[in-house]
Amino acid sequence: MKTVLLTGASSGIGLATALRLNGEGYEVFGIGRTFDESLSYPENFHRFSCDITNTKALAKTLQDISNRMPQPSPDILIHSAGIGLYGLQETLKPSDLQQLIRTNLEAPILITTEFLSFMKQRKSGHIIFLSSVTAKKNNTYGCAYGATKAGLLSFANSLFEEARKNNIKVTTLLPDMTQTNLYRNADFTADEAACLFPEDIADTISYVLSCGDHVNVTELTIQPQKHRIQKK
Ligand SMILES: NC(=O)c1ccc[n+]([C@@H]2O[C@H](COP(=O)([O-])OP(=O)(O)OC[C@H]3O[C@@H](n4cnc5c(N)ncnc54)[C@H](OP(=O)(O)O)[C@@H]3O)[C@@H](O)[C@H]2O)c1
Repeated sequence: MKTVLLTGASSGIGLATALRLNGEGYEVFGIGRTFDESLSYPENFHRFSCDITNTKALAKTLQDISNRMPQPSPDILIHSAGIGLYGLQETLKPSDLQQLIRTNLEAPILITTEFLSFMKQRKSGHIIFLSSVTAKKNNTYGCAYGATKAGLLSFANSLFEEARKNNIKVTTLLPDMTQTNLYRNADFTADEAACLFPEDIADTISYVLSCGDHVNVTELTIQPQKHRIQKK
């Protein structure tokens, strides 16, 4: 059974992806801060509570997960954990900006680094990053968020060039507005009839994983057919 290590597994895109991949027979090791234990999870969904911005706690959690997997590194590593931060740049607090950068950029880079040597040695592995359409746009009221997503895209594309000779696949997904908790602190919301749902992104991940061994989907943008946002 193939193993998946997935961050952001407690909510939104990460949770939908975990359930989708469970249904396809993958063994999922999911990280989140708070899992809703009133839900019933499939047997092959192993949940680990950890704040990925706490480097010491993260290292311990990755070790615990490694010990539970048949091999020290997962077959598939999916980085879905992320937070949003919106507003005029000068209104944003330094501590919130630090949390944003550490969650969206530092943690995925550290987690990838942890498993890369073994993946290269094994000559297999697929790393999937949840970036965003904002990575390629100017983002007024979301300058720093967009910068973290552009940074992730840059890291992923360079990593693919570096690791492709070791048979490592690297994919970056660039979804547009998806109906999740990400916008809980924003003053706008997606129009229900004109946005994506977490299951749409889970479908995309399933597609990317189904491609032949000789194929790497490097970047994929997912947009709703219609697009409207409204003020809350
Ligand atoms: N929704 C969109 O429109 C959209 C569009 C493009 C890209 N994305 C990207 O997609 C990814 C998933 O977001 P989502 O929309 O599914 O949002 P979401 O429902 O808010 O999910 C975010 C996930 O990240 C986890 N997380 C956040 N901070 C964490 C921390 N410090 N330590 C551990 N886990 C942490 C959350 O865990 P807890 O809740 O347990 O803390 C949750 O599982 C993000 O990277 C986001 O930037 C989203």
